[in-house]
Amino acid sequence: MSTAALVLAAGRGERLGAGLPKAFVPLAGVPLVVRALAALAAAPEVDRVVPVVPRGARQRFAALAGTLGRVPKLAEAVEGGAERQDSLRAGLASLPAGVALVAVHDAARALVRPQDVSRVVTAARLHGAALLAVRARDTIKRVRDGLVVATPPRAECWVAQTPQVFRADLLREALAKAEAEGFVGTDDAELVERLGVAVHVVEGHASNVKITEPGDLAVAEAWLAAREERA
Ligand code: CTP
Ligand code: MG
Repeated sequence: MSTAALVLAAGRGERLGAGLPKAFVPLAGVPLVVRALAALAAAPEVDRVVPVVPRGARQRFAALAGTLGRVPKLAEAVEGGAERQDSLRAGLASLPAGVALVAVHDAARALVRPQDVSRVVTAARLHGAALLAVRARDTIKRVRDGLVVATPPRAECWVAQTPQVFRADLLREALAKAEAEGFVGTDDAELVERLGVAVHVVEGHASNVKITEPGDLAVAEAWLAAREERA
């Protein structure tokens, strides 16, 4: 089953505030997007990795793409859009017809482990839709206007990560439905859930952090160092 990974890297990185698009920010010398692409390409189940970069940044990406040596399976960079969902649409539109499974990944999760990519792709092959997630460590509160409205049982709470992997036809249908209804989700699985399709959860790893704010870079560096010590 031909599998493509879209690495969404077209955001501005406003909360990180690094003065350049977040995906191009180096982590131990290697831009986040390059780390993410290499991690996905290292999973044998992934056939091609597609960077979705900011408008006008394709050359800039090409100049950085070699920082980790040649990334295998690398497709031409695609330009993303104003919102993450626009970048997803652009990435999906770029895929050849033979792609049956699509893994959607945030470049901001530069440290995803190839073995976890393999597990979630395998689950999606079987079930049509799967995501990586970790168990919530904290009790989650639903809050409106500063008041707690619900406390979902912690054992049922998971924190969604990426990659999230779907049959290509399901993801296309989910995106078309969301767009027709003016719905913008906070992750891709939510769009597929709205089709009534069951999304399978694959337990991921805590090191697959989303680099959002400056402090997260230090956390990611610590995970990287811990990984290299073990290696
Ligand atoms: N993303 C994208 N296109 C957009 C917005 C986001 O491809 N228009 C990507 C980002 O590059 C990132 C991922 O989606 O890898 C998750 O988004 P987020 O962490 O919010 O990144 P940014 O939008 O870049 O950061 P910020 O919201 O702080 O500006
Ligand atoms: Mg954003």
